Amino acid sequence: MGWVAVLLTSLAIVTYSAVPYLMGSLGQLDPDRAPLAAAYSQTPTVVQVALVVHVVGAAVALVVGPFQFWAASRRRFPGLHRWLGRTYLVGVWVGGVAALVMAPYNTAGMIGFLGFGTLGVLWVWTGWRAYRAIRTGDVRSHQAWMIRNFSLTFAAVTLRTWTGVLVAAQVYAAGDAFDFDAAFENAYNAVTLLAWVPNLLIAEWMVRRRGLPTLRIVDPTTPDPRAGTAQAERR
Ligand code: HEM
Repeated sequence: MGWVAVLLTSLAIVTYSAVPYLMGSLGQLDPDRAPLAAAYSQTPTVVQVALVVHVVGAAVALVVGPFQFWAASRRRFPGLHRWLGRTYLVGVWVGGVAALVMAPYNTAGMIGFLGFGTLGVLWVWTGWRAYRAIRTGDVRSHQAWMIRNFSLTFAAVTLRTWTGVLVAAQVYAAGDAFDFDAAFENAYNAVTLLAWVPNLLIAEWMVRRRGLPTLRIVDPTTPDPRAGTAQAERR
């Protein structure tokens, strides 16, 4: 049930939020379908290109990601899992680097720079840790890092969900004084962090529940009783 919900919401966000940005030049897109297009059409060309590259790379990751957690297909078609995994990671890295180019120009200002910027760095880094783990044959660490990484990819879904919830909460709180633009701005500032911090906490909880290698702060002077395992984790 959970997996189906993740798959369907991911496909819905790609269809309704990402695809509209690829339907023409940024300055001419319908603001109802591609709300940030007009703002980005005023930024330097490199940032406009980064937005389009980001949307394509991140959309690929969001479409492919859920299938990689389908255990039966992983067991039956390991070759397909490897190819989709490479495609997913290219999407994450291309989408992540492009997001870092866009971050200084984001429409939420300093909080957006910090929130989206940190998300971008963690997205690229957790993808790299997952890749390195599987290249060294450490399947359990690979699983743990991929759970963390996809929880960040899924920020595309939770960002839009939280925005809706927070705007709706303000309709209720403000009554007749409700101002949509102000409510949206409030909500958008909050989701620069709310979109991904809880996801990462849930991912860490899932990693622990499955008994996969967890994040630990190790005192290098203390002998580690699990030295062999820890070495594999650090790789
Ligand atoms: C997880 C790492 C991600 C980071 C760091 C990131 C970063 C950003 C940033 C900085 C913006 C511009 C926001 C603004 O100016 O207000 C943006 C917009 C956008 N991103 Fe991402 N993003 C991520 C994941 C994704 C994913 C997985 C998708 C897949 C659909 C996606 C699709 C979009 C779209 C469609 C926009 C245009 C804005 C909109 O209409 O909502 N992003 N992203």
